[in-house]
Amino acid sequence: MGKYSFEEIVNHLKSSGFVYQGSEIYGGLSNSWDFGNLGSELKKNIKDLWWKEFIQKDPNNVGIDAAIIMNPKTWEASGHLKGFSDLMIDCKECKSRFRADKMIEEATGISTEGKGPEEMMHVIEENRVACPKCGKHNFTQPRPFNLMFKTFIGTLEDSKSVVYLRPETCQGIFVNFENVLRTSRRKLPFGIGQIGKSFRNEITPGNFIFRTREFEQMELEFFYDPKDTTDWYKYWVDICVAFVQRLGIRDENLRVREHAKEELAFYSRGTSDIEYAFPFTDWGEVWGIADRTDYDLSQHQKYSGKNMTYLDQASGESFIPYVIEPSVGVERLFLMCVCDAYDVEELEGDDQRVVMHLHPSIAPIKASILPLSKKLKDRAIELYKDLAEDIRVEYDDAGSIGKRYRRNDAIGTPFCITYDFDSENDGCVTVRDRDTMAQVRIPMAEVKDYILKRIKF
Ligand code: GAP
Repeated sequence: MGKYSFEEIVNHLKSSGFVYQGSEIYGGLSNSWDFGNLGSELKKNIKDLWWKEFIQKDPNNVGIDAAIIMNPKTWEASGHLKGFSDLMIDCKECKSRFRADKMIEEATGISTEGKGPEEMMHVIEENRVACPKCGKHNFTQPRPFNLMFKTFIGTLEDSKSVVYLRPETCQGIFVNFENVLRTSRRKLPFGIGQIGKSFRNEITPGNFIFRTREFEQMELEFFYDPKDTTDWYKYWVDICVAFVQRLGIRDENLRVREHAKEELAFYSRGTSDIEYAFPFTDWGEVWGIADRTDYDLSQHQKYSGKNMTYLDQASGESFIPYVIEPSVGVERLFLMCVCDAYDVEELEGDDQRVVMHLHPSIAPIKASILPLSKKLKDRAIELYKDLAEDIRVEYDDAGSIGKRYRRNDAIGTPFCITYDFDSENDGCVTVRDRDTMAQVRIPMAEVKDYILKRIKF
């Protein structure tokens, strides 16, 4: 557990422009969040960084951008129509509805992982589990509740026009496997990545943006020949761990948890989660890396009747490739980064500052141009315009310089550039570092390179 409460961090994010309550002027919508002027930048930077590291810099990988609404057969093939559900239980007295496993675990500490409705009912009765809302003992039998959002296409709301909002982005990759193979001329091993919205009608959303009903995923499906002896599973676990470490996330707040055999889906050969010690829980999943074998492509071959095999030119053999899937939620990475970055530092005297030690590559604003006086506005704005061509910078001439430094520290801006009266004569500016608060004076012509060098991942 970190030094700061989750409430304190969330309040800071809400008040400084990272996250707003969704549809706030109408009283909000439960568990819906909007990303503000800073949050949208941070999210975009996280996505750009993932794309750069997993697609742009990896010669094996390509990206796609598939539709959110897919042919419903996709979800039959993937197993989501049948299996993507949680067991729900209703209190007959107060009519409240709960996720059965969570209710039991919270009341008794007993995990009902893998148990069916009857076994769950048995645990409830044996332990006299009470309704968390009204305290009575009168429940319906637990029954499955599908987590996919259902909607209709076209004008008729009948069963033939039912479609679903995708609950994961990876199925858009699997159904396009043969298309990408043909148009990208890739050979195994290779990966297809995608960033996009996913939707799950979660029964127990919560913990701010940790579990929401609408979120973004960044998924890579890395296809390989099952006869290939390289340990691609370990390879991708290591890459994802390195990504998180390079973001500066503290080691003591990170762990990799390998799933036990009983936790694995029947088709999976292994799954590891990168977990973070969020302030609201012991460990929360951020990134899942799974060896899904040939399950998904085989299912789509079966349900579509289309060939999903790969022809190995050298051996003349056709087979369905295996796949490793590193899958991460943008909002989870966002939340991990801000929880790890948030700090309140004691300064000399009674002073203190809130500072977000975000990695400069993802900081929403990279530098702030601060003229010491409004009289220096013209040249300072010129500098702003020049930097803004290549870097996300802001201009601020309101308030004391100390206050402006604090404002920038609190939103994680790595550099403050002060333009003063001497700048008019010597053509230099003072660049202040967010973390060390150290200042250097450099020629204005060198500022852009100075910053670009220091905001690299
Ligand atoms: N294709 C595999 C898949 O979707 P998952 O473990 O269900 O696997 C992958 O989801 C990642 O997506 C999680 O590790 C998490 O980062 C993110 N995620 C899943 N459900 C989420 C939710 N309701 N809200 C926010 N992020 C979520």
